[in-house]
Amino acid sequence: MKNICILLSGSGTNLQNIFENIKDGKIQNAKINLVIADRECFALERAKNLGLKSILIKRGKSFTEELLNAIPENTDLIVLAGFLSILNKEIFNKIYVPIINIHPALLPKFGGKGMWGNNVHNAVLENNETESGATVHFVTQEVDEGEIILQKSFKLIEDETTETLAEKVHKIEYEIFPKAIQQILNSEK
Ligand code: GAR
Repeated sequence: MKNICILLSGSGTNLQNIFENIKDGKIQNAKINLVIADRECFALERAKNLGLKSILIKRGKSFTEELLNAIPENTDLIVLAGFLSILNKEIFNKIYVPIINIHPALLPKFGGKGMWGNNVHNAVLENNETESGATVHFVTQEVDEGEIILQKSFKLIEDETTETLAEKVHKIEYEIFPKAIQQILNSEK
């Protein structure tokens, strides 16, 4: 059984989707061993409702140290599912399991600091892009620059708004995130 530790900051729909994919056997032989939030957020409530162990580690001086102490030793994969803190380089020196992230755009476009949630969708619209999508990638010290694991795109329609984009991107995320997780767990055997 592989253990997945999920880090997040938001509403947690990706957490819920991963949970359901495990339950339905679409992600095999895995369980979520801990959910860690870096702020008060609805995802904490969601985790509780799903019966998952969760903790809140607020950002501050000892954030990295607390995070390192909290990640269970039996963790095989760390998944950032809408996690808005940037991981300190110390994390990468001390954690030897893969860390993956979902990003709401087609990296390498629209990545980096400040590029999260609706900021990304607004930038896509302002740039008159003809397509958008989602990307699952490995997390490295360079924000949003790690190797891409899976990516899927869609064509923008006329009258696309931040909200319609967010909805379409989320749909794609629910499709490619579980696939990428399974792929990584398989390759770790
Ligand atoms: C997702 O769209 C994810 O791609 C994005 O936050 C959302 C979380 O949604 N992550 C980033 O922007 C990270 N740069 P959720 O809380 O409903 O899963």
